[in-house]
Amino acid sequence: MKEQKTNKERFLDWTFYQIYPRSFYDANGDGIGDLRGVEKKLDHLQALGVNAVWLSPCYKSPNCDNGYDVSDYRDIMDEFGTLDDWTRLKNALHERGIKLIMDFVANHTSSEHFWFQEAKKSRDNPYHDYYIWAEKPLNNWRSTFGGSAWEYNEATNEYYLHSFAVGQPDLNWENPKVRKEMQEIVDFWVELGVDGFRCDVLDHISKDFQADKRYDGPRLHEYIRELFDRDGVRHIFVIGECQSDESGVCELCGKDRGELTTIFQFEHVRQSAQSKFIPFRFDLNRFRDVLVKWQAFTAKNELLYTLFTDNHDQPFLLSLIQPPKALRYEAATMLGAAVYLLKGIPFIYQGQEFGAVNSYFDDIDDFNDIETHNYYRARKATTDKKTLMEEINFGSRDNSRRPMAWTANKAENFGFTTGKPWLAPPTQAKNVNLETDRRAERSVFRFYQDLLRLRKESVAIRRGAFCDLTEIQNSFVFSRATDNERIFVVCNFEKAQNISLPVKNARLILCNYAARKNDPFNEAFAPYEIAVYQNRP
Ligand code: GLC
Ligand code: CA
Repeated sequence: MKEQKTNKERFLDWTFYQIYPRSFYDANGDGIGDLRGVEKKLDHLQALGVNAVWLSPCYKSPNCDNGYDVSDYRDIMDEFGTLDDWTRLKNALHERGIKLIMDFVANHTSSEHFWFQEAKKSRDNPYHDYYIWAEKPLNNWRSTFGGSAWEYNEATNEYYLHSFAVGQPDLNWENPKVRKEMQEIVDFWVELGVDGFRCDVLDHISKDFQADKRYDGPRLHEYIRELFDRDGVRHIFVIGECQSDESGVCELCGKDRGELTTIFQFEHVRQSAQSKFIPFRFDLNRFRDVLVKWQAFTAKNELLYTLFTDNHDQPFLLSLIQPPKALRYEAATMLGAAVYLLKGIPFIYQGQEFGAVNSYFDDIDDFNDIETHNYYRARKATTDKKTLMEEINFGSRDNSRRPMAWTANKAENFGFTTGKPWLAPPTQAKNVNLETDRRAERSVFRFYQDLLRLRKESVAIRRGAFCDLTEIQNSFVFSRATDNERIFVVCNFEKAQNISLPVKNARLILCNYAARKNDPFNEAFAPYEIAVYQNRP
């Protein structure tokens, strides 16, 4: 008998924290974050108030793309610990009522994976057809990290496809054996007790070699259903990293499609059509408009939306909006309220909870990311050093991958490690770190705690209908309502201005300027000020 379709609405009660394990906390002093390190910091997660964790890849890997190049899907990277450490961590999370989802890298393996080591030996090797080969490149696709997406292999006199690094050959999902292998990997982790997966570049697994884009191939939905619409698996949480537009999202996440719980949709955070390294000023009005569009769209189509501003692939959004230094707390909390009080499933990226910002380094050796280094190499002959370093500091993924600043103590690597950190700590860590923030009167962490407590206590925030009430530019005003509760959220952007309030008689339940507590319905809003009101008719 087919398992009962699970009620997706329950996932609205989950609040995620994303951990990039290499940079979270180092428990054994080798300079690299690890699973024991995550286990040691569970009090922090619990104090923050999250109840789910997304762990970026921790599988065996030669780390050409920091774990997104997997060489063994059933074991843990040496630097991060062992499978026993993983089990301990999973149990410790579950004891605290925190769910755990793992990154599932299905589009490609590492070139050091056993399958590829075999596949590249000869055309008649049993694993050859696990990957995508051609005598001549089938198209002019470019790798996301620069250069052609096709790499020559001498032993077989063929090219193989790598949508990302040369060390990340794309799997051939047309091959039923590959699909079976990937199902078995899903089952392996589900049996070990994982609560779901974040599926890396999932929209890439089916390809149309004639098309100019590498994703959303013709068999995508069939493959996804084969993976996840199965007994024993159907109940788990599955979020896909996909670039789909509205109709694509309906197909991937529609109620009866048997595919995904939800996806990461990037339209609100990716405003520039240019290379990510070309600096631009982030526009909060556009940001709001895109969020409003998706709130309406997901409500109409009964889809679950995902609420996030940051992850390990993006510089911190807080830095892109460029608040004056003195208003970092106000801007960080305004962004948090504007996003995490919408309808959807929150994902908070490590560091966001104390208002982490981007760094500035003059030397390319202070960067690790393959994408950053490839960009540097490709541009260094034609771009002057200063411009190039500005671009790199603006767009590099390392901005969000630097070691967590737990304390203000520089001599102790800001509490991340007793050894030498694998990557230089953030340049602003002396002022921007968890310890300093928690002691401050204006604490981003405390605001996030309040925000998550409100989500927990308020059905309207978790499940209520969204309604946009914005009347003037440079503000975002909305309500969330159920039959017996209404929440009003008023966010002001960078300049002081008057905002007419949608409610005159309600309880102020959250704000980021102390003065508002004495005068809750004052229409004069300070820069980045927010106020949240609650009404129970
Ligand atoms: C995803 C990951 C990114 C990685 C890429 C290739 O976009 O989030 O970090 O480099 O896929 O696996
Ligand atoms: Ca370590």
